[in-house]
Amino acid sequence: MNNTLRENIDWVGVVDWNVRDFHSYDTHRGATYNAYLVRDEKTALIDTVKAPFVDQLLKNLAERTPLEKIDYVVCNHAEPDHSSGFPTVMRTLPHAKVICNAKCRETLSAYYDTSEWTFEEIGDGETLSLGNRTLQFINTPMVHWPESMFTYVPEEKILFSMDGFGQHLATSNRFDDEVSLCDVMDEAKTYYANIVVPYSRQVLKVLEKAAGLPIEMIAPSHGVIWRSYVSEILGEYRDWASGRLESKVVVLYDTMWGSTQKMAEAIYEGAGEIEGIDVEMVHARRSTLTRIATVMLDAAGVALGSSTLNTLMMPSMAGALNYLQGLRTNAKVAMSFGSYGWGRGAVEGLEPWVDEVGWERVVDSIKHKYVPTAETLAACREAGRTLGQKTVERAAETA
Ligand code: FEO
Repeated sequence: MNNTLRENIDWVGVVDWNVRDFHSYDTHRGATYNAYLVRDEKTALIDTVKAPFVDQLLKNLAERTPLEKIDYVVCNHAEPDHSSGFPTVMRTLPHAKVICNAKCRETLSAYYDTSEWTFEEIGDGETLSLGNRTLQFINTPMVHWPESMFTYVPEEKILFSMDGFGQHLATSNRFDDEVSLCDVMDEAKTYYANIVVPYSRQVLKVLEKAAGLPIEMIAPSHGVIWRSYVSEILGEYRDWASGRLESKVVVLYDTMWGSTQKMAEAIYEGAGEIEGIDVEMVHARRSTLTRIATVMLDAAGVALGSSTLNTLMMPSMAGALNYLQGLRTNAKVAMSFGSYGWGRGAVEGLEPWVDEVGWERVVDSIKHKYVPTAETLAACREAGRTLGQKTVERAAETA
């Protein structure tokens, strides 16, 4: 296992093989909490780990340096998956100062008793010399929290990017070229779609700042370190943050006795007739919020369907829409559909939701009482075709 980024710059983090939830994010491949040790005339630890793993972090540190030689602990991000190890780390390292910005100090002090900690506050663009290497601090507010920042080492062209460019992926490998690129890009996209997307405007600003830096490695707080595919992940972030959409329709639905499912399938068939389009069916109750957010990220079109249950849409659809609304997923062209019995309500709930989030309804909603007839299914196929065509046009506008 190679944990070395450069001579005297090591990964000292931990792998959490068993975590399956990160505040509703389905971490089906586990996670890592990355921390890095930079040894020079002065020694700096960049970030800590989640509290249950702090003993492993201290062991990793002790194998590399006497703990009393660690001068600084940089906090790039105060969210507890990275900072909850801080209290133990600060009790154990006798001479370490915490290096962070003012907002981060405030946040750390809200979570932990920091009265015995020594802080050195730094501002955006400031530097700290370790001897032959320098730490340069770059504030990245709202990527992912208000206090977030990157730490850059210009002499090594390494960017320690905390959550940015991360992936929830437990692996014994440390680098992007040691794992399947397909897996790592898929997890990077999932991470963006579920954590970063609400802050895309801020991501674009951060990318602008980063464009001025020569970068050979991006070392995030989760997942593998980018060294062979740096320009690829920067390119993906640019696309995701700028809202580039694909010619893709997502048919997201839930069905009670199969009628709404029949309508979903007819819409799927109709959309699929449009050349160059990708159509994905997602049964909201059989999928996860994490997967739904990920397939939605770059889809230009969506068909939302639900049976009516107790005068409302199905609970799985309500949950999915609530999650997507919070994420402020990129605006799409849309339509709604669903079957009902003696009382309506589902489509009547889907339509205003589409309007509220600012998506564009480009096809009239289709509702059917009980089991859809051949005429209704033909109308669904036709609606699917129209939605597919509008989806291609919407994607082209964002290219
Ligand atoms: Fe990995 Fe925003 O915490």
